[in-house]
Amino acid sequence: MEKKTFYITTPIYYPSDKLHIGHSYTTVAADAMARFKRLTGYQVRFLTGTDEHGQKIERRAQAAGKDPQVFVDEIVAWIKKLWQLLDISYDDFIRTTEERHKQAVQKIFQRFYDQGDIYKAKYEGLYCTPCEAFWTERQLVDGNCPDCGRPVELVSEESYFFRMSKYVDRLLAHIEANPDFIQPASRKHEMINNFLKPGLADLCVSRTTFDWGIPVPFDTGHVIYVWLDALSNYITALGYMSEDGSLLQTFWPADVQLIGKEIVRFHTIYWPIFLMALGLELPKKVFGHGWLLLDDGKMSKSKGNVVDPEVLVERYGADAIRYFLLREIPFGADGHFSEEALVQRLNFDLANDLGNLLNRTLAMLKKYFAGRVPAPAERDPADEDLRRQAEVLPRTLENLMDELQFSAALAEIWKFIARANKYIDDMSPWALARAGRTERLQTVMYNLVECIRIVSVLLLPFMPKTPPRIWQQLGIAGEADLQSWDSILSFGRLPAGEQTAPGEVLFPRLELTGEGGAPVRQATKKDKGKPQAAQPAAAGKPADADGTGLLAIEEFARVDLRVAEIVAAEPVAGADRLLKLQVDVGGQQRQVVAGIARYYRPEELPGKRIIFVANLKPAKLRGVLSEGMLLAASDDEGNLVLATTDAPIKSGAKVK
Ligand code: MSP
Repeated sequence: MEKKTFYITTPIYYPSDKLHIGHSYTTVAADAMARFKRLTGYQVRFLTGTDEHGQKIERRAQAAGKDPQVFVDEIVAWIKKLWQLLDISYDDFIRTTEERHKQAVQKIFQRFYDQGDIYKAKYEGLYCTPCEAFWTERQLVDGNCPDCGRPVELVSEESYFFRMSKYVDRLLAHIEANPDFIQPASRKHEMINNFLKPGLADLCVSRTTFDWGIPVPFDTGHVIYVWLDALSNYITALGYMSEDGSLLQTFWPADVQLIGKEIVRFHTIYWPIFLMALGLELPKKVFGHGWLLLDDGKMSKSKGNVVDPEVLVERYGADAIRYFLLREIPFGADGHFSEEALVQRLNFDLANDLGNLLNRTLAMLKKYFAGRVPAPAERDPADEDLRRQAEVLPRTLENLMDELQFSAALAEIWKFIARANKYIDDMSPWALARAGRTERLQTVMYNLVECIRIVSVLLLPFMPKTPPRIWQQLGIAGEADLQSWDSILSFGRLPAGEQTAPGEVLFPRLELTGEGGAPVRQATKKDKGKPQAAQPAAAGKPADADGTGLLAIEEFARVDLRVAEIVAAEPVAGADRLLKLQVDVGGQQRQVVAGIARYYRPEELPGKRIIFVANLKPAKLRGVLSEGMLLAASDDEGNLVLATTDAPIKSGAKVK
């Protein structure tokens, strides 16, 4: 059977050494989509590139004292390196200064002219050079460019014009008949009501006052308008107007064209009209996503390290950045970027939820089965819900990805991770081991490893570096048939007998130091053994009567340790490490403040039975009363877990 094809594009970037993390957004999203489609069996073509002509670039090159070609060559090399750092798996990178593109654009221009879509006239109007866009007086906002708010320039020159008006009705009809064409719907209505319905002026498609562009083939004093030049990349990269039409045949029309919201107008009005004039089909979907903003406004590289994609990748790794970009903001909406939010996601979702599932499972496997995946015994009704969720997940993800709902897709994977973590708690493998229920223990441990394998395959499109690290630990690194989409469509494809080996922590927990914003690993060797979660010990030096440094049993007996049940938990305002807990100690309610906010979400705590120091002097932490202390274990990998009870026992029970 012939493979289904999928063509996805990003905008081509203006060569700039000022690309910030916001710029990576479109490209990371497109990459996740391309990888998802490849994983699910499509023949994919993923195009990105650079938009190198125009007055803006010419001026920048002049300012740098460089020839424009030399100027762009240097920057393009840098952009390619950035995409490599972020694991962008493009199939083609087109530069508008390449011959293959320039020649095709000239032919396109010639064809428009020959068929009467282009005519020559005098242009007098307004131009925004940063946006490379023409405006009428009426469209300006406070005399400035309505898109970027910067001043416009008066342009008066002889130009070629494209008869946009001729195609408006056809375009409106197409938009109406194809509700998926422009997305999200809000942007579609904006285009219809603000631009198409009021009537479209003919577009000036050549300039004479500068040189850095593709010459009009029959009138070399003119260079082709940079947007006509740039938009054509989506087809020139497929060999349009060249001798080899095979790529165009296979991949056009594009399945998805991803763009930021500020360039929706060019992509949903001019671009489709050019395509109509060429007699080509229109792309199936153009999606205008929102912007990534900083808390204090728009993003720009001048805001420093925090928005520098290279610095961020170096600090957190590409997978964490990709995860954050795709998870934090519903695709389509604007969203905020901050390093705090990034570190929170990293700690909660990656270190805690995903990391714990892997670490706990492999540690138990090592303890009970010397690390070897046991053969599952009989199916148990208690496993059915987990198995069903695992089997539904791939289909759910396919649907969400078709809607470009990256964040919702990741949320579904994380719901499943939470389900698997709960399965550990519910099945309590340690209790099965103690009770000698080996067969049941085998099944439970098998199911857990299988869940991790399924998660790892589902993560591939979003975080390509992480799954191979998981496979290494699961002992299936070289086994492609256990890493494929097909292998996760039914539960239980993992063979028994694989030798697992706990390895390095996937995502060490981090905390922001506040100094220069650089994160540090939360626990280091030197704070080994120090209580991490608990509040500071009560004042008063420990007695050490015999000078040995050892504790006498009577001294230890003074600590009243009790089982307590957490009843409620909430954050402490202004203290991002603390949680305020209400605990029940044998019918008595106590309030405690604990430094566990980076490890536990408030909602996952109620119901847990913990070990509690009941006779600690009350203290105030950040102004909040704390009447006791809970115990937790932490290691030098940055893990922290609450000390809980091995089997159900009533709250208030004494621990000694
Ligand atoms: N060269 C044009 C596109 C021509 S396509 C035929 C262009 N280039 S750009 O470099 O300015 O922008 C490239 C992409 O980055 C756009 O999709 C733009 O929306 C995106 N972003 C730039 N800043 C952004 C944020 N702060 N947030 C999200 N995306 C943003 O436009």
